[in-house]
Amino acid sequence: MDNNQPESILKVSDLCVQYGTFKAVKEVSFDVRKGEIFGLLGPNGAGKTSTLSAIEGLIKYQSGTVIVDGHDAKEKPLYARAAMGVQLQSTSFQAELKVSEILQLFAGIYGIKLTNEKLSAILKDISLEDAAGKRFGQLSGGQQQRVSLVISTIHNPRLVLLDEPTTGLDPQSRRQLWERIEAIRERGHAVVLTTHSMEEAESVCDRIGIIDHGKVITIDTPQALIEKHRNDPEVIAVSRKGRVTLEDVFIALTGKTVRA
Ligand SMILES: Nc1ncnc2c1ncn2[C@@H]1O[C@H](COP(=O)(O)OP(=O)(O)OP(=O)(O)O)[C@@H](O)[C@H]1O
Ligand SMILES: [Mg+2]
Repeated sequence: MDNNQPESILKVSDLCVQYGTFKAVKEVSFDVRKGEIFGLLGPNGAGKTSTLSAIEGLIKYQSGTVIVDGHDAKEKPLYARAAMGVQLQSTSFQAELKVSEILQLFAGIYGIKLTNEKLSAILKDISLEDAAGKRFGQLSGGQQQRVSLVISTIHNPRLVLLDEPTTGLDPQSRRQLWERIEAIRERGHAVVLTTHSMEEAESVCDRIGIIDHGKVITIDTPQALIEKHRNDPEVIAVSRKGRVTLEDVFIALTGKTVRA
């Protein structure tokens, strides 16, 4: 490998996902490097979850390649999966399980020994120290999100895939989650997240990919995207109060129509 090039942790090339005859993901390509937070943005139905699910091995992809930490996800699915931590768009653990049981269960799946001290430390870390004995279904949506993020990173994976991790969180929890995501980057690992928040994309993501109708429209840093499109007539037409934001660029690139 070229020493000047940061190490690739995820390389997606020409990925195609089809549901029956409907093509949800069309030749999507992007790569995510060591120490990078990559945001996947796109309107409802754009194909973000389908792309992540294919990378995660949860759905089949018709063509293309996915390389996770050097392992081809089709040829070496177990190695690829072991390198990944996954938080789904709607995580529902069994509502009647206690938080401590869920953590123990997943630690066990990943072959990690979770002592009572370690369990308490994890819960304290996500400000849920009193929740160990609570049932998952008794937690608020935001509290459930925190538990599911912790579970997705319990085995310290090189690549963490988060589908709308901050949807529904209050500002405090969202900031805390950003810090967690940034801590994963500091460890030299990589994160792919989806979000509908342009503020989040600008604040947290090193690079973003905008997809629509299953296709990648553009990939760049948030700042570069704003600069590149600052003077586009479509961007100026949708901008407000004379200030061009990432949201203006996003709307100009993906259109104003609300998706069915
Ligand atoms: N299991 C499925 N069977 C058939 N079509 C599906 C299935 N899952 C998703 N789709 C369709 O594929 C397209 C992409 O869906 P996907 O869930 O990937 O979008 P998304 O970008 O994650 O959207 P959102 O922002 O709403 O989460 C949509 O048109 C959706 O209706
Ligand atoms: Mg989705």
